[in-house]
Amino acid sequence: MSPTSFILVAIDGGAASGKSSTARALSERFHLLHADTGSYYRALSARLLHSGVSPAAPAAVRAELTDLHLGTHCSGRHAQLTIGGDPVPEADLRSDAVNAAVSHFAALPEVRAALLPYQRGLADLARTHGFQGLVMEGRDIGSVIFPHADLRIFLHADPAERARRRAREGQLDAVAERDRLDSSRENSPMTCPAGAVAIDTSHLALPAVVERIAALITSRLLGG
Ligand code: C5P
Repeated sequence: MSPTSFILVAIDGGAASGKSSTARALSERFHLLHADTGSYYRALSARLLHSGVSPAAPAAVRAELTDLHLGTHCSGRHAQLTIGGDPVPEADLRSDAVNAAVSHFAALPEVRAALLPYQRGLADLARTHGFQGLVMEGRDIGSVIFPHADLRIFLHADPAERARRRAREGQLDAVAERDRLDSSRENSPMTCPAGAVAIDTSHLALPAVVERIAALITSRLLGG
């Protein structure tokens, strides 16, 4: 394989599997644009809830989404979704109401279709902004958004350990229930795609996970 000058890294995994901390550390190490796509689904969910739209009413969801203008605010290496020019406040993204509703909104084809071209477009944004690459984390990045990414990683972790991680962050978040919904939905279910590198993070500290993936990125950049 020849050396690559721009690297596309897809990281998928369940709720609280360590995706965000890992992706953030890699973005700093390799100067990659970081896209946390869970926060994009959260932003749309917060907006829809704010407008009084329920996931049980797909026609209303579709109507609300057609009027939304999605954009990006680059905060350092982090690509934040903006709606109508404004990022959604972090507290709204992580609210209990959004935690409870996001997987139901994310199962709707209308919601996924609204985000698909946006997410793919971030690779060009990373190139034009002079990043060394893009690290995108989510549930369907290696399977649907970028199936030909240079590196596809799938992080696993024991459900009890993941629930403990969320509780330590002070969040009320039914991670097992979200995983069940995310893995069993018809549209772009969470899955470890064939050819992805699977890593169990249950008993692995963050630096060890980062080192493992960093070695793979370095090897790709050098043409290994
Ligand atoms: O990553 P995070 O836990 O913040 O994701 C919130 C929710 O967004 C997930 O539980 C899932 O329903 C949805 N999601 C998705 N596809 C992605 C990223 C997140 O369906 N690529």
